[in-house]
Amino acid sequence: MMRIGIGYDVHRLAEGRKLILGGVDIPWTMGLDGHSDADVLTHAVMDSILGALGRGDIGKLFPDTDPAFLGADSIELLKQVAELMHRDGYVLGNLDVVLIAQRPKISPYTEEMRDHLSEALRCDRSRINVKATTEEKLGFTGRGEGMAAEAVCLLEER
Ligand code: CDP
Ligand code: ZN
Repeated sequence: MMRIGIGYDVHRLAEGRKLILGGVDIPWTMGLDGHSDADVLTHAVMDSILGALGRGDIGKLFPDTDPAFLGADSIELLKQVAELMHRDGYVLGNLDVVLIAQRPKISPYTEEMRDHLSEALRCDRSRINVKATTEEKLGFTGRGEGMAAEAVCLLEER
């Protein structure tokens, strides 16, 4: 038995915020705004897994009205999602995630992101791929107003 899931998320860029992507603190002039650490990439990953499990989305699991999740470390939230996945009897088959951002270049950080994600999901890093694209200066990502991320995962019954 296999299950497939998709995740999509967007956060605004703002001054005076850290830029956290895939659990990596990336030096940049702006960061993503949000209730948690606004790690848009990890949010898309969590939504893909919850989708595959038929468990809704992160808004349902970790409401952004809940003060408990103010400034939350999204990798820690991913560990909770992984816990649910294992309890439901699934392991990660593979995961592919794409960050949509005009700048900065994230390719120097993707290996470290794979390490954070695979550690949280308790799987071999070879099961996880992280990549990025610009949208050629078009739209909100192109204008640098925000970043988006999309993820697709396959879960395998244990
Ligand atoms: O059309 P293509 O995606 O090849 O071009 P691009 O969007 O300009 O991205 C060129 C390269 O930069 C790709 O290999 C991306 O992985 C990388 N990239 C990145 O590291 N960080 C970004 N924010 C956007 C793209
Ligand atoms: Zn988010």
